[in-house]
This record gives sequence, C-alpha cells and structure tokens, in this order.
Amino acid sequence: MTIRGLAVMLLSMAMAADAGAAVTKAAFGKMPDGTAVDLYTLKSDALEVKVMTYGARIVAINTADKNGKVGDVVLGYDKFSDYLADKKTYFGAIVGRYGNRIAHGQFKLDGKTYDVPKNDNGINSLHGGTVGFDQHVWTGKEVQGGVEMTLVSKDGDQGYPGTLTAHVRYTVHGSTLRIDYSESTDKDTVVNLTNHTYFNLGGVGSGTILDEEIMINADRFTPTDKGLIPTGELAPVAGTPMDFRHATAIGKRIHDDYQPLKLAGGYDHNWVLNGADGQLKLAAKVHDLKSGRVMTVQTTEPGVQFYTGNFLDGTFKSPSGWPYAKNTALCLETQHFPDSPNHPSFPSTELKPAQTRHSTTTFTFATQK
Ligand code: GLA
Repeated sequence: MTIRGLAVMLLSMAMAADAGAAVTKAAFGKMPDGTAVDLYTLKSDALEVKVMTYGARIVAINTADKNGKVGDVVLGYDKFSDYLADKKTYFGAIVGRYGNRIAHGQFKLDGKTYDVPKNDNGINSLHGGTVGFDQHVWTGKEVQGGVEMTLVSKDGDQGYPGTLTAHVRYTVHGSTLRIDYSESTDKDTVVNLTNHTYFNLGGVGSGTILDEEIMINADRFTPTDKGLIPTGELAPVAGTPMDFRHATAIGKRIHDDYQPLKLAGGYDHNWVLNGADGQLKLAAKVHDLKSGRVMTVQTTEPGVQFYTGNFLDGTFKSPSGWPYAKNTALCLETQHFPDSPNHPSFPSTELKPAQTRHSTTTFTFATQK
C-alpha cells in the first residue's frame, strides 16, 4: 500500500471510530413516587456503556479483555430496586452538589455561614448531603453518540445557596467514555461534581483490585485528619506509599504502617495532579495484568480521589450473588480538592451567576498482553 493509501485508510478508521456510538433508551424502573427512570445504552465497536437517569449513574461498562472476552468492569446492579436500597456506595453516580467532604458541614461564602447535612458519621458533610445528586432523577436527552443528563437543584437544596443547573454529558468515542460537566447558578455558590464509578478491570466477580497496577500522575497529595478532611498541606508523595508516579500494584503497600493509610483503612485520598491548568491531562492509568485490561483516565480537574472501596463490606451483592467486599473495586473521582470552601489556598470551587463552570474527564479502555 502507498503512504497515501495508508493515510486514507488510517483516517477513515479514525472517523469510523468516532462516527458516534449508537444510542438506545429503555425503561429501567420507577421511583417510589412513580417517576420513571430510563436507561440509556451507548454502544461503539469497543465499548458498551449503560447510564440511567437516577443519579445520572453509570450502570455498566462492557469491554473486551486481552482474549476478546467481553465483561462488565464496574460494580452495580441489574435491578433498579437494588439501587434504591443502597444509600451507601454511590455506585456509578454523579455526586454533588459538593463531591467528597465539607468539614463540620459548614462553610462561609460572601461572609455568610452555610450549614449542609453532616451525613458522614454526624461530623462532616459527604457527597452533597443526605439527598445528594446521586438520589435525584435527572432529565435525559439523547445527543450524538451519547446522552446529556440535566438536574436543577433549587436554591437551598441541602442548605446550598443558589439554584444550580447541572448538565452532565456522557458520550462514547471508540474505546473512550467522555464525561463533560457544566454548571451554572443564579446566586454565588460552591460546586464540585464528580462521577463515583467503582472499577474492577478484571470484571465484576473476579476478586479484589489489590493486584491491579496503578499509576497516578501526581507529585503531591492532600493529607487528612481522621475524619478524612484535608489538613491544608500539599505533601510530597516521594518516599511514601502514596507514590504512584510509577505503576505499582495497589496491594503492595496498602497495609504499610503509614498513618494516612491507617486513618482511611486503605487509599481514600486526593492526589494533586501534575500540570493542572484546566487542560485535559493524564490523571491515572490502571492495568489488570490477568485480563490485560488497561484504563487511562484524563481530566481537566486539579485532583483525583483514589478510593480502594474500603467501606465495601459484602452487604451489597452483584446480580450473580458475588459480595461486593472490601477492595473489590477502585474509584478514581476526578475533582476539586475535598473541603475546598474552607481552604482558600486550594483551587476555588466557587461559582458566580455570570459564569458557567466546565470540566471534562475521559476513561479510555485498551488491552495489553
Ligand atoms: C468517597 C469517599 C469515601 C467514601 C466513598 C463512598 O470515595 O472519599 O470516603 O465515602 O466515597 O463510600
């Protein structure tokens, strides 16, 4: 083949890969008040992603392993009632209005103190409060290659000021799942949305994630107190079990006698991503050697919460009855830093009426023999 022929072929392959995934919609369940919940399926040659309107949640990501066998790599349920019964895990959800924690459920904005629910052991606020964005039915709209979910959170919702309109757009491009967030408000407020999907690249039911290798593109992380609230320090990862600048098995140092790991019962910390400037950049890469699956995460956000499912205790089970036990999945929650409203030195999470906040995160799947 000529060089020109090759170039044409590669270009048409790239275009075919991004021709836009096929999108279908089906009913998934009903809320206790009768509100219908829909499930959207986004399907490309490489990826099948299922997203529902309840919590704008990712319900499944089906992708092939190194032998071509397709499997679901995210924790979830096949029955809608199981999602309603689980108020603990946030499986696949968009968490907000403020993802992660706010110390003592309190922050100051424009000189005024706001109280939000202390739903984390009665001490701090977690993932937006008692009824966060994960428990709302969003409005789904089909877009090219995906679905856009919209939620309007009223002024005073969970104690937060301002009516906030959030759009979260999921699209599939070849082997990449892309999430585009945008938010606007009618009063000054704070916002920090993220997606709380639990990944197990070996596939649901394959065991723990302790043998999977992870690389996190960060020289620093935010140490916390025992309630997992940042102290404000940006500490170097060098010489600690938090150093994932080179791919390392997750379980290699997770039981080290190292205070941040002891406090969290494993990894449950925010890493300060290198080169954060609002551009899409590498956040993390996970490799499951057994299945050969590799996932690369890129984001415009300044941080990522790497959580090793420390609170999973087997109470909830997969559709085939496999207990979702400790360390059976990992989350990579791209975000602004936890408790930013109480840390003026952290990148700001404030949003003003004249602004629209945009952010993007991508998850790309591949295999490696
Ligand atoms: C985040 C938090 C964890 C935990 C999970 C949900 O990852 O950082 O501490 O709350 O969500 O269980």
